[in-house]
Amino acid sequence: MDSLLFLILCLLSLFIANYGMGSTDFRIPLYSTKTPYFWGKDIDEFIREDEEIWVDYDNKECQIIHLNLILRHGSRSPTLSWIKKMTVLGNILKSNPEVIERFPFLNSWENPFPETRAGHLSDLGEDEHFSLGRRFGRRFSLLFTGDLENILYGVTYKQRTQASCASFYEGLTDTLDGESRKNVKPAINDKLLRFFDTCSKYIKSVENNKTAAPEHTSFKYGAEMQRIAQKIADKLGLKTLNSEEAQTIHHLCAFELALFDKSDWCDMLEKEDLFIFEYLYDLKQYWKRGYGHSVNWGMSCPFNSNVFKQLNDVIYKARNGEDYNVADIQFAHAETIIPIFTAFGLFNDSVPLKADNYESQKERQFRTSKIVPMSASFGIGLYQCEASEDPEEVYVVRMFVNEKPVVIPACGQEICEYKQFMKYYDDLVNCNYAEICENNKPHDEL
Ligand SMILES: *[C@@H]1O[C@H](CO)[C@@H](O)[C@H](O)[C@H]1NC(C)=O
Ligand SMILES: *[C@@H]1O[C@H](CO)[C@@H](O)[C@H](O)[C@H]1NC(C)=O
Repeated sequence: MDSLLFLILCLLSLFIANYGMGSTDFRIPLYSTKTPYFWGKDIDEFIREDEEIWVDYDNKECQIIHLNLILRHGSRSPTLSWIKKMTVLGNILKSNPEVIERFPFLNSWENPFPETRAGHLSDLGEDEHFSLGRRFGRRFSLLFTGDLENILYGVTYKQRTQASCASFYEGLTDTLDGESRKNVKPAINDKLLRFFDTCSKYIKSVENNKTAAPEHTSFKYGAEMQRIAQKIADKLGLKTLNSEEAQTIHHLCAFELALFDKSDWCDMLEKEDLFIFEYLYDLKQYWKRGYGHSVNWGMSCPFNSNVFKQLNDVIYKARNGEDYNVADIQFAHAETIIPIFTAFGLFNDSVPLKADNYESQKERQFRTSKIVPMSASFGIGLYQCEASEDPEEVYVVRMFVNEKPVVIPACGQEICEYKQFMKYYDDLVNCNYAEICENNKPHDEL
């Protein structure tokens, strides 16, 4: 009898688990670059004060003297082209009685994303950056405390990066007790952070080139996407649905769920579909922003060379007992960060992402949901090691992706000696943007 009761309880809880699945179960890090940061990270994670301040290297204790940090803006509203697609699709589906019968919510559905706020930082995005300000403040408390005046801030001309910066600053100063909280006045660094806007070769050969990402195009119209689109069409009671319409439903689910905590559109999808959409978008980013073409990452030259310049400057000043910037914190875009990750050789799969290797790429490193969600970050920490018999101090670097240390390709370890680091990335240190982008050519050749 007891075991029967147990069995019934088990079945019941299974039933509840599946039945009650609803949309909450969809808050998982699978929405490529549209993934809110804390769907993949624990917002309640305990962070020890000064967690990343010291590190041991070669039996020496090293302490951070500079953090170079770039963050993507936080969760935002959809961009204008997606808002328009959402409205169009919503209207088509609303006018179909068959669809309404299956998804009655459509009767009263109106596009909740006003065009006037397209691409703007959302409340969720503000919360993300406030939390991140606090988290970085905790991890590097000793570096920042008493030195808030020696932090540089940079943004792009876009509202979402500026608002992200303001929220981050609030969180940072909130966690560093006793620090005065003046308004932050970041510099607009579009030359460093929006290098993709002015790179002729990139614009011509990749951005505006409809055939630059054939693997993405093949997958978009391939068997996996067709199967997903048909499955959604069947649910809706439609004959067919095309790949773009399926993507619009996916975006509606992602954005409504992120910004309003609930979306009936997610009921049209199944969890396994999310993996297919994720690969579709990974292919796009890989070929349009990542390893697919060398100009994609070559053009991040202005940002990269500036990082090395700053690190050298800090070392020079530290050696001479002069004041230096303890941090440079900049806010930009996925289009900024993916090329930078790539230039530094991170997440470089040995086999390229292709339309026909979805199955074999399931363990790929280039997974945008993990590496460039909303509020993603990339940090380089410069550490000074205690003086030994060597007349010259030893400096080492660490890299942080989304707050966690990663293996640095320059030495295959999480800590690299600065000299080795500089040598390995010599092409980034001494890059020539105009040459890489073929910006010197007369206009009629562009
Ligand atoms: C567009 O991309 C394809 C594939 O990379 C390339 O062969 C072609 O030359 C590019 N077109 C232009 C105008 O650069
Ligand atoms: C990525 O890895 C390949 C080898 O798998 C290598 O040839 C290439 O240089 C790497 N790309 C970058 C940008 O580091």
